[in-house]
Amino acid sequence: MESRLKFIEVKGDHPKTTFCQAVDEGLSAAPKSLPTLYLYDHRGSELFEEITCLPEYYPTRTEQSILERVSSEIVEAVGGDLMIVEFGSGSSTKTRLLLSAALDRQRSLPYVPIDISTEFLKQTSLTLLRDFDRLTIQAMSAEYFDAIAAMPEHSGPRLMLFLGSNIGNLTHEEATSFLAQVRSQMKPKDRILIGIDLVKERTILEDAYNDRRGVTAEFNLNLLRRINRELDGNFDLSGFYHSAPYDEREQRIEMRLFSLSRQIVDIDGTGGVYSFTPGEFIHTEWSHKYTLDSFRRLCRPAGLELDATWRDERDWFAMILLRPDAP
Ligand code: AVJ
Repeated sequence: MESRLKFIEVKGDHPKTTFCQAVDEGLSAAPKSLPTLYLYDHRGSELFEEITCLPEYYPTRTEQSILERVSSEIVEAVGGDLMIVEFGSGSSTKTRLLLSAALDRQRSLPYVPIDISTEFLKQTSLTLLRDFDRLTIQAMSAEYFDAIAAMPEHSGPRLMLFLGSNIGNLTHEEATSFLAQVRSQMKPKDRILIGIDLVKERTILEDAYNDRRGVTAEFNLNLLRRINRELDGNFDLSGFYHSAPYDEREQRIEMRLFSLSRQIVDIDGTGGVYSFTPGEFIHTEWSHKYTLDSFRRLCRPAGLELDATWRDERDWFAMILLRPDAP
């Protein structure tokens, strides 16, 4: 099995801000914020998996149901001897549907999962190899932007996946620039499949990010726990609470951690002292929602055109297949 697995750690070519620098900068700014990617350590990735099973969290289930219906249609629309590349692969649960559909049409399939949670990536890769004997995996431990230039070449078409509305974490500018960079690596036959969460009624959205069991709160607060552990901080977790309101104008959920009182937090790792007023919040994540039009507006400047779209019956979620525009 090991012979079918290659594991690559990709480092960016530009100097990276470390966790320490990012935390110091984010907590010194007004309003305070922390970079979203740090939510996804091993524990964070596990908690996110738990979120995907919550009754209120419809995106995973809805995307899964679309893929159950149209996976073979998607694979057929791309055609040829595929390679599948996935940005933010996580547990690859929904991807299994596409892997199966591709393996129904071709003898073997190279799969390139890309994720920042290295341990999670390893576990997932081994499980997939056990379940699919005609699969080979080149796993890349990397951040989205760093992974683009490191994508392996393939003789047939490459189908690149960005599922689960993961793109919604990016601002519109970042999303367009990410898509443009992917576009610059695309051959005419390559395609990108993106799962996007659609704009809908506020209560449905807010319930999905403020679940009754408090798993999303735990996921959000885990970031403070990570700072305590890795940077020797003294965040009192009971002094903060999670809330994720929907901003209708910006069409996005905004994940926040609110301070319950006036308090001071020491972080030895950064050497900083950070004070909070009652009700002050730390921004941790955006989850953008789209209409087909707003999404098309992100793709066009990146040189990508809509090739096909698939939606569920309620119009809650959409899968968009993109092709490079004519040069
Ligand atoms: C992993 C970015 C798709 O935005 O819905 C879920 C993350 N945060 N609940 C999302 C998340 C809180 C999720 N994505």
